[in-house]
Amino acid sequence: MAALFEPFTLKDVTLRNRIAVPPMCQYLAEDGFTNQWHEAHYQSLARGGAGLVIVEATAVSPEGRISPNCLGIWSEEHVSGLRSVAQRIKDQGAVAGIQIAHAGRKASANRPWEGDDHILPTDEKGWQPIGPSAVAFGEHLPVTPTEVTKADIERVKGDFVNGAKRAREAGFEWLELHFAHGYLAQSFFSRHANKRTDEYGGDAKGRARFLLETLSAVREEWPQNLPLTVRFGVIEYDGEDEQTLNESIELIKQFKEIGADFVNVSVNFNIPKASIPWGPAFLAPIAERVRNEAAIPVATAWGVDTPELANETIEKQQLDLVMVGRMHLTNPHWTYYAAKKLGVEKPSWVLPAPYAHWLERYAPSDER
Ligand SMILES: Cc1cc2nc3c(=O)[nH]c(=O)nc-3n(C[C@H](O)[C@H](O)[C@H](O)COP(=O)(O)O)c2cc1C
Repeated sequence: MAALFEPFTLKDVTLRNRIAVPPMCQYLAEDGFTNQWHEAHYQSLARGGAGLVIVEATAVSPEGRISPNCLGIWSEEHVSGLRSVAQRIKDQGAVAGIQIAHAGRKASANRPWEGDDHILPTDEKGWQPIGPSAVAFGEHLPVTPTEVTKADIERVKGDFVNGAKRAREAGFEWLELHFAHGYLAQSFFSRHANKRTDEYGGDAKGRARFLLETLSAVREEWPQNLPLTVRFGVIEYDGEDEQTLNESIELIKQFKEIGADFVNVSVNFNIPKASIPWGPAFLAPIAERVRNEAAIPVATAWGVDTPELANETIEKQQLDLVMVGRMHLTNPHWTYYAAKKLGVEKPSWVLPAPYAHWLERYAPSDER
């Protein structure tokens, strides 16, 4: 059996294989609510055979949305729609995960296909973003955020805790905290974005405080028997990479001590002009370093998306799971495709019977 198709157990949760769909914003919610799009989208991704499907960045407060059309989990009213999405994922045999998020200084943006640029606070749909310091991201996101006060910090931590509670109420079994991609938590840890002089800034210990306190507060709320995971950017590609990576790995060791079970290793995206070496599975060796040095199971995304490459990263014990994003938008049945390519016996049976039966007996030619 190909390593990619071995089950993976973390706490009380077992994934049927090592393939996960990472969170991918759909930008189609109104007031944070799910709708038919989300139901169909997540059901089809789970039906395709992945072991884990993680629902997109879901904002813990209205101001924490990336765009006005992001999903939300800031009120009890959001729970029933999210429960329906989680149930659809589970009914298809995948584990239902959700990423909870606060976009920080990157909030209040247009949808990517509408420009990806800041909607100004003075515009009808825009609002004033917050950040660790009054430092703008720049370029297409020029709005200077309001520096958060200690009271704001307490409020946002509480928002994450309430988000975690509601995620559980909605039936999710895998929680991912969005500590990556230049959003609020990541920006607290960033030397570029965090210029504070109080205990939430300065050296790596100060810059880590918001992340550690948030994780610790969520750990109290999220059930001990279910995976509590963090998506965390460990490298900025700004020329200071060894220092950032070392500081990040030290922080991940502390995440683990507090009770994080898994890290989805990613990029920082705190500055517009990073020199990111895009390429197939370019983060896999970095994730492997995190796995070995912090002794915690890991995944990464970003081009780990041919069956052979995905399988190799698991076989070589670089990764515990692969996060396959855009390839799942191309083909929600990517797991079936991977099973065929890797010579899994009866590959069709990664799909439900009404598809599998016919594909097993009368598989169409791949050429057509
Ligand atoms: C449409 C789209 C939306 C995304 N939204 C999120 C998100 O909500 N949270 C997140 O952490 N990453 C997000 N990402 C990044 C993906 O999770 C993933 O890291 C990226 O697509 C690279 O993996 P891939 O090469 O397999 O596509 C998004 C990516 C895409 C394409």
